[in-house]
Amino acid sequence: MKNYIKADEWNIIEEGFDPHLNKISESLFSIGNGRMGQRANFEESYSGETLQGNYVAGVYYPDKTRVGWWKNGYPEYFAKVLNATNWIGIDIRIGEEILDLNTCKVTEFKRVLNMKEGTLSRSFRAELKSGKIITVEAIRFCSIADDEVGALHYRLSAFNFDATVQLTSFLDGDVKNQDSNYDEKFWDQVSQQQDNDTDYLVLRTKKTAFEVCTVSRTSILHNGAVQELKQVSKDKYLGQTATINLTQGGHIDLYKIVANLSSENYDKEQLLSEAKLRIDMASAKGFSQLWKEQAEAWAKKWEEGDIIIEGDVAAQQAIRFNIFQLNQTYTGKDARLNIGPKGFTGEKYGGSTYWDTEAYCIPFYLSVAPEEVAKNLLVYRYKHLDKAIENAAKLGFKDGAALYPMVTMNGEECHNEWEITFEEIHRNGAIAFAIFNYIRYTGDESYLAQYGLEVLVGIARFWKQRVNWSADKNKFVMLGVTGPNEYENNINNNWYTNKLAAWCLKYTITAAAKVKEQAPEQYLKILQKTGLQEAQEFQDWTSVAEQMYYPFDEKTGVFLQQDGFLDKEQILVKDLPAAERPLNQKWSWDRILRSCFIKQADVLQGMYFFEEEYDLETLRKNFNFYESRTVHESSLSPCVHSILAAKLNDEEKAYEFYLRTARLDLDDYNNDTEDGLHITSMAGTWMSVVEGFAGMRVRNGQLVFQPFLPKNWNAFSFSIGFRGVQLKVSITADQISIRNNSDQELQVVVFNQAYPVPHGEKVISYKGALS
Ligand code: BGC
Repeated sequence: MKNYIKADEWNIIEEGFDPHLNKISESLFSIGNGRMGQRANFEESYSGETLQGNYVAGVYYPDKTRVGWWKNGYPEYFAKVLNATNWIGIDIRIGEEILDLNTCKVTEFKRVLNMKEGTLSRSFRAELKSGKIITVEAIRFCSIADDEVGALHYRLSAFNFDATVQLTSFLDGDVKNQDSNYDEKFWDQVSQQQDNDTDYLVLRTKKTAFEVCTVSRTSILHNGAVQELKQVSKDKYLGQTATINLTQGGHIDLYKIVANLSSENYDKEQLLSEAKLRIDMASAKGFSQLWKEQAEAWAKKWEEGDIIIEGDVAAQQAIRFNIFQLNQTYTGKDARLNIGPKGFTGEKYGGSTYWDTEAYCIPFYLSVAPEEVAKNLLVYRYKHLDKAIENAAKLGFKDGAALYPMVTMNGEECHNEWEITFEEIHRNGAIAFAIFNYIRYTGDESYLAQYGLEVLVGIARFWKQRVNWSADKNKFVMLGVTGPNEYENNINNNWYTNKLAAWCLKYTITAAAKVKEQAPEQYLKILQKTGLQEAQEFQDWTSVAEQMYYPFDEKTGVFLQQDGFLDKEQILVKDLPAAERPLNQKWSWDRILRSCFIKQADVLQGMYFFEEEYDLETLRKNFNFYESRTVHESSLSPCVHSILAAKLNDEEKAYEFYLRTARLDLDDYNNDTEDGLHITSMAGTWMSVVEGFAGMRVRNGQLVFQPFLPKNWNAFSFSIGFRGVQLKVSITADQISIRNNSDQELQVVVFNQAYPVPHGEKVISYKGALS
């Protein structure tokens, strides 16, 4: 665990330069706008440890799969969001020396991520080997107001010297992914063009043939006077150079405005002309205006979804960091895009889509963004339905059964470890649950007729075929699966998967009845399209759902994670020596698999989804049993524990788990922040506050709260949208107040009592409600 980020409510601040922390900071200070993003690499050359990263959403490369032992059904490739053209680069030569913080004496250094305005800035003072001292102030952003545009301003001043300074502002497309399976480069150059101060670089991905045009306009000023630029170029590289006689006290300003346009959004033939329009428009506004628009766009985002924590700066900073990074990753404007577990902050997980989106991110976007945003995430899977049916067919399923991939970019499976690819099938259930969750929150039942039901039918058919009848148990069983707890593979009757499967089957029948009643014409079309044999299939599904087998231990009253779980030696996490953790770095895989230690919420994940089915006593027994065996070596785990602990009134544990999820990256808990941030688990952090501490749920179309105030906080509040109404909910130790900003009256339930909330502020006291 590290502890070098300064506490601040709106900013992430690093002071002093420690090269060993650089890759961590590059992740933490990442910027993005949903369409593109980048790690916080330095503009100038840096020969120390770094992971260069610039990413353009939706542009990926199918990197040929590399496995030791090929299994039928494995995908041919792993799709990767590519490291794309580096547009921030500035080479700086001072006299004969290259500016490189790895070879300078850095006497002052500050890096700030301003979350209020969405900017990354850096200032430093460095002494070169020759004794020349410079100061630099740099600021840049990826515009969220115009998501194809980025801009930077870099000012360099001479503190104690006169010298010739040469600056080259460049675009460099000769980049590669560090995780390339065969050490290949993924880009070919299509064209390059230079037009005075403007560089156009068009690259095409190998195999997938996506084209991206990066255009950059540079201006360099010396003590305020515009300098002439000389153009330089080589393969996949274009630059603009100025050579300046800088004298002591003088300064140079470099402005760079950039646009990134991809063939995902324009005809390839139009890319250059569109890029020209875009760069003209952005540069006509200029750096200051673009910055102003950026700050305004972020102000709106914060208005829709800020969380304010009073009395605990570290917690405040952490929750804003999580919300900020989520908003930088996905804006919901484009239904083809999704949320990679690392967003635009690193290469791990390839920027591809996992079940994380449905299980963790949907609730966040439902509350803090317009309804279409969460809907787009669902439609993304709808568009992949045919591929999910193909995927299932490859594995031997038939008649329209759909198995969504574990990891995907375009609907095709990318994952290639059999115990996950073929067996971690619970992801199918999360996709169905997300449809239910969306409708529960928005009330938009028309989604079923429009898109949802077809997906549910495909998923239901899969579950029906995936179970088999056990004559021994006189029940349906599901063999050879991996649950969310990946520290157990190829097990039988994973309680969570069985539960989810049975629920999906029943929900699909209910959903079909709804569509039949509400949109009969559409229903007929769905029947035709899917070939659904209502009578027979519903009967089969009901029979599986009602006769599903669930492992249960009578003695402890605990649902067993899978058959035989109690055969394992039952040791508790508290008895594990600290030196042996994290287990995935200290133990052999074989030992992990045989142990009872759980990577992430599994049974508890199911109890979280279906909490209404369990009384508190059952929840408590299961929570105590599984919590004491869970090592949380997936970032997705602590939030579920935090929410359930809150429900059990275990305020201390709820807070402990919250801190663990909220500052996971800021404090580098798992020693892996340098690979990129845990973007999808950040949505879980948000859930810990809203569903955990505020106890917010939607029940019977109404918002329900069961709040408590963590001990270290004076108050907290959050903004959410619900069914067309914008609300601000504030919670203190004894009251909850809800500001309704619309004219529409809302009914809420606080500790089982209903209250009308008309326009304005409604204060409800809840003191004593718990006793
Ligand atoms: C977790 C998965 C998750 C993936 C991406 C893994 O470590 O076990 O549940 O989908 O990371 O976040």
